[in-house]
Amino acid sequence: MGQDGHEALSPQIAKLIDRLPKVELHVHLEGTLEPELAFRLARRNGVRLPFRSVREMRAAYDFSDLQSFLDVYYAACAALVTREDFRELTAAYLDRAHADRVRHVEPFFDPQTHTERGIPMGDVIGGILDGLAEGEKRYGITSGLILSFLRHLPPESADATLAEAEPWLDKLVAVGLDSSERGFPPEPFAGTFARARTGGLRAVAHAGEEGEAQLVARTLDALQVSRIDHGVRAADDITVMRRLAESGVVLTACPNSNVRLRVLASMDQSPVKKLLDAGVAVTINSDDPAYFGGYIGANYRAVAAALDLDADDLVRLAANAIDGSFAPDNRKLELHSELAIASAG
Ligand code: HPA
Ligand code: ZN
Repeated sequence: MGQDGHEALSPQIAKLIDRLPKVELHVHLEGTLEPELAFRLARRNGVRLPFRSVREMRAAYDFSDLQSFLDVYYAACAALVTREDFRELTAAYLDRAHADRVRHVEPFFDPQTHTERGIPMGDVIGGILDGLAEGEKRYGITSGLILSFLRHLPPESADATLAEAEPWLDKLVAVGLDSSERGFPPEPFAGTFARARTGGLRAVAHAGEEGEAQLVARTLDALQVSRIDHGVRAADDITVMRRLAESGVVLTACPNSNVRLRVLASMDQSPVKKLLDAGVAVTINSDDPAYFGGYIGANYRAVAAALDLDADDLVRLAANAIDGSFAPDNRKLELHSELAIASAG
């Protein structure tokens, strides 16, 4: 089997996956920073990365858990300094996304990782928005940007970050919550999330990646999110799974991430099919593709091969992502028409 399980797919399923118009709901822009770009930017900015070469950096991508990945991911962010860096990062992601037929994306960025180093919020958001606007012009990829708080920092820092982002709130679609899950529960962020929702933003949060199914339920209660990022552990608890199915809350699963961070022992342990069959609105995404061995297409191929997904399953996954996005209704209709054409062959 190839790196992403491609060889195990029938040619028909592989072709269908290539054709599917994709909506990506769980990708961290900082997690799309490929080592080549990290070194180019670090050199340009006179910043030292804690790796001697691109090859040494890639060799460090042998993770034992979420934290071992986050340590490398935050260290690499030192390369991102100027507004132009954030534009280039975003543009490079969109080139790859276009190659995978991504038609709409709602990426995360972690402002605290940058503002804590003294980078102005306006440079971070401005550069990303420049890149997203270019991607829409060049490829027709629409987007909605999600400001994600770091849960290992205190809720006061999240609050200050939301206040600092005030001038750009109308350019964002949602707030999110990421970083270390163990030892950092959702409840302390309830106030920040309530303020963001009052300000017109939607809410999503990582939960049930390393944490147990109950953390998914607690996140829904505390933060009133419309999507749970990862959420794969929800499949361990029938009550939580039923709650997700009945409420229509979307799960943004990231199969390669789960295997690389040892959330799952192997791809065939992925609960994606179980969740689909239970009526949960699960979707397929790449999370941090520069670190986990592939972009969204590779994630579709890997999970389809390991779980023997059929055409109906794959079309349902793609449709769930359209419906679960924060795109305006007219855009969702366009995406559904593209999906109907792709699924008809
Ligand atoms: N989990 C939590 N935080 C993250 C992740 C993730 O998978 N990727 C980037 N930040
Ligand atoms: Zn994530």
